[in-house]
Amino acid sequence: MSTYSDLAAEIEAEILTAQDLAALDAVRVSALGKTGRISGLLKTLGALPPEERKATGAAINAVRDQVQAALDARKDVLEAEHLSRRLQSERIDLSLPAAPRARGGVHPTMQVMDEMVAIFAEMGFEVAEGPDIEDDFHNFTALNFPEKHPAREMHDTFFFNPDENGVRKLLRTHTSPVQIRSMIAGKPPFRLIVPGRVFRCDSDQTHTPMFHQIEGLVIDKTAHMGHLKWVFDTFLSRFFETDTVITQFRPHHFPFTEPSAEMDVRYSRNGAEIRIGDGDRWMEILGSGMVHPNVLKACGVDPDEYQGFAFGMGVDRLAMLKYGVPDLRDMFAADTRWLSHYGFSGFAAPNPASGLS
Ligand code: PHE
Repeated sequence: MSTYSDLAAEIEAEILTAQDLAALDAVRVSALGKTGRISGLLKTLGALPPEERKATGAAINAVRDQVQAALDARKDVLEAEHLSRRLQSERIDLSLPAAPRARGGVHPTMQVMDEMVAIFAEMGFEVAEGPDIEDDFHNFTALNFPEKHPAREMHDTFFFNPDENGVRKLLRTHTSPVQIRSMIAGKPPFRLIVPGRVFRCDSDQTHTPMFHQIEGLVIDKTAHMGHLKWVFDTFLSRFFETDTVITQFRPHHFPFTEPSAEMDVRYSRNGAEIRIGDGDRWMEILGSGMVHPNVLKACGVDPDEYQGFAFGMGVDRLAMLKYGVPDLRDMFAADTRWLSHYGFSGFAAPNPASGLS
């Protein structure tokens, strides 16, 4: 028995002299670790005659518990000392100026897209989305582009390499394929807008290979071009925050609408400043028309029962107009100096009720 209490006293002395947590842990390992002194004693139990085993085992366990308690107590003391040393030595001077933080901004195109969605949402349009990578059916065929027709070349298309079946996917050239996807997936009536990225092989001051469109689709039993004009006059006067918006339809051709028209808006230009609303110039802002019966048929919508209009407009172009950006290519040059000039605070959420700009 006395060997056990000697051992306990010896280990406890080591515990009390351990000056830090690492030293304390070394004592723990040498006592209670796998090959430690107390674990070694427990292994000798097997060699004892059975009648001694119980009492000896209990004595060794008591020593183990005593050592464990001493370890825990010393650990508390060392941790408290460590903390108070840190509190003494580490000081923060709160009067020092903070380093400037890099500020992010919302890209004007995204801000304008959100504004447009907010205005259309108030008019009862819902938002639909579709994939950037499309197939020929959704981007062309279902939109009444005849097979091998030059209309397909109207959009200089980025094609992927053909797959093993000779099928070529493409980057969608407009948001119109989402008309098809939405009509196939749902049931009329439809009143939706489609904000999204589109791609064409094109680059100059007013064209970039990637740009943004918002598509609109209204299908019910009575919708007509007059409604389209009202939607646009209302949209433009809210977007440009002016009561005088003068628009005109100009006849055009799109395979998926009949009749088709582009819509122009009156503006004036004074140097770099562009004012929408009055003036003597026309700016083309969107393509539109009554949805072609063949498009309705391709989507399983009966053209004898349903009709309606569609439109597609360039978001980046509207952002350029609203914020006076002279070159479209700058919009996507990823220059943070440009963005901090034209960008918006992340907190500037568009809200039609309180003004958008
Ligand atoms: N998809 C056409 C374009 O990208 C625009 C459009 C949409 C025209 C809907 C008519 C109807 O040029």
